[in-house]
Amino acid sequence: MIPESFKQDLLNRVDIVDLVSRYVQLKKGGANYQGLCPFHTEKTPSFTVSPTKQFYHCFGCAAHGNAIGFLMSYSSLGYVEAMKELASTVGMQLPDWRPDSPEQAAKKEHETDLYEMMVRASDFFRAQLKNAPRAIEYLKGRGLTGEIAARFRIGYAPDDWQGLRAVFPKYEDPALVDCGLVIENETKRYDRFRDRVMFPILNARGAVIGFGGRVLGEGEPKYLNSPETPLFEKGHEVYGLVQAREAVRSAGRVLVVEGYMDVVALAQFGIGYAVATLGTATTPIHVSKLQRLADEIVFCFDGDAAGRRAAWRALEVSLPLAQDHKPIRFLFLPADDDPDSFVRREGREAFERALRGAQTLSAFLLAELRAQSDLATAEGRSKFLAEAKPHLHKISAPALRLQIVKEVAEFARVQQDEAERLMDLRPASSYPRSAPARSAPPLTGSQERNLLRCVVANPTLAAELDAALFDAQQPETEILHLFASWSVEGTLPSQALLAERFLGGRHEAIMAEAQAAALEHELSEDDAVRIFRQIQLALRIQRKNEEVEAVRRQVESDPRSRDLQVELRRHTAELAQLKGQRL
Ligand code: UTP
Ligand code: MN
Repeated sequence: MIPESFKQDLLNRVDIVDLVSRYVQLKKGGANYQGLCPFHTEKTPSFTVSPTKQFYHCFGCAAHGNAIGFLMSYSSLGYVEAMKELASTVGMQLPDWRPDSPEQAAKKEHETDLYEMMVRASDFFRAQLKNAPRAIEYLKGRGLTGEIAARFRIGYAPDDWQGLRAVFPKYEDPALVDCGLVIENETKRYDRFRDRVMFPILNARGAVIGFGGRVLGEGEPKYLNSPETPLFEKGHEVYGLVQAREAVRSAGRVLVVEGYMDVVALAQFGIGYAVATLGTATTPIHVSKLQRLADEIVFCFDGDAAGRRAAWRALEVSLPLAQDHKPIRFLFLPADDDPDSFVRREGREAFERALRGAQTLSAFLLAELRAQSDLATAEGRSKFLAEAKPHLHKISAPALRLQIVKEVAEFARVQQDEAERLMDLRPASSYPRSAPARSAPPLTGSQERNLLRCVVANPTLAAELDAALFDAQQPETEILHLFASWSVEGTLPSQALLAERFLGGRHEAIMAEAQAAALEHELSEDDAVRIFRQIQLALRIQRKNEEVEAVRRQVESDPRSRDLQVELRRHTAELAQLKGQRL
């Protein structure tokens, strides 16, 4: 068996939204994400993924599970294979859980851990920097301090075709090619990175997954990057995330820049919340990843034409993802500047001042659209409306969309409802939500069923379960007892683990119902606490009422018993006390 603790650890490290987004386009709607279900054919999204509960549920076909289950179904993997796959995405290795057959053992020996290779290479490059006066001079010449170079683990790849042989005596290992460190052609193998300053790229967990290498001075290409490897997908990653995380949290903002050097220079000047895309255009995955990190995203682009093109691309990607409470803004630097040169010349305060003046997404969108049409003519204004239309359709944040529609109407000199009609937008009051409009139905069913839904939404509630209250006839009761005992033993599984704990067993359907309901009602942990306590109180009152009635009947049949009188009074007082409780 794979130890439960490993599974728990794995599920804690994996983010199911991240995982599913690789295969399914997800959109945030309320507390959850929705997309088209990959397990059945549908036109409107009923596939729901919960970032807080770490499981998914399809309201169309009832497909259901955690990250492991998703991979199993999506990639038709076995349980162990899926765990393995998942583990590799977060740099974990499956513990040995049964003796390997000789073939398996041989295979394993052959299967070198790519992550381990990347760390070893990174350490090697760092050590090499110490003996490379040219590289040190180069970095100093660009104004970098030793401290900041250490913080970003900057290194140097020596000017040597097989420099990595020093740390990989088995230079023929195919894994070196797999992780992008070595290039192989028909006749020879050689290091990809030679005579370059090395910027290691870390994933969110801090594992080295790739490198960017810069020539010292002039040369082509200026930056050489790791290819896409099993560890590294450019469109998913940003540079500097680990180093930025703390600052992002305290600033409540993440700044997205274009270059490695920009991130490093900004950090050196005290602006720690910058990350860079990796020589690729902004992707939806970038945006949704960053939205989870901070309330505000500011894209910073060079002031030149290429910068504006890149910004427009980021805008297009952001439109469907923009949320009313999470602003996205654009900062354009003066032409000929990048954040590195700007902050070095003007300093931190000037940079942050510029940042405060960054353009909002709506202002940028409208400015670009207006620039494309001559609003002084009727034709120009009609063209303006036609060009605005597809962009407005992409915006799912209702308040933001409404604001922009109003502005568009004003510029086009039409009424708001005319603009909406011309652009086939529904009036503001009936905007489709980004998710299918599924207002949560009231919680129905037995109290036990609703308690279970709450416990699923917030497993810490298991500690408050009062097993004596539940009706043994209810199918949920047995599961509630299980939760109560797990809580006492301290073996309470996480929500993600819960999603699979009951699969294939006789409680499967009940658990699936509870989890689906928790999603459908968007039961937050706090909601769950509130509802849970109300239900238990109601149950206590109900049970106490029954006791009072039972004693009252005894009193009727034996009116002279003092003991019974006393007992009745005690129960009645307790009932009154329960009824007086306010939650
Ligand atoms: P820039 O050309 O703007 O470089 O590329 P930079 O960051 O200002 O670099 P310095 O200041 O000249 O050292 C921005 C980003 O585009 C990618 C890199 O990620 C770089 O940081 N890029 C650029 C490449 O991948 N390859 C290249 O040849 C050039
Ligand atoms: Mn630069």
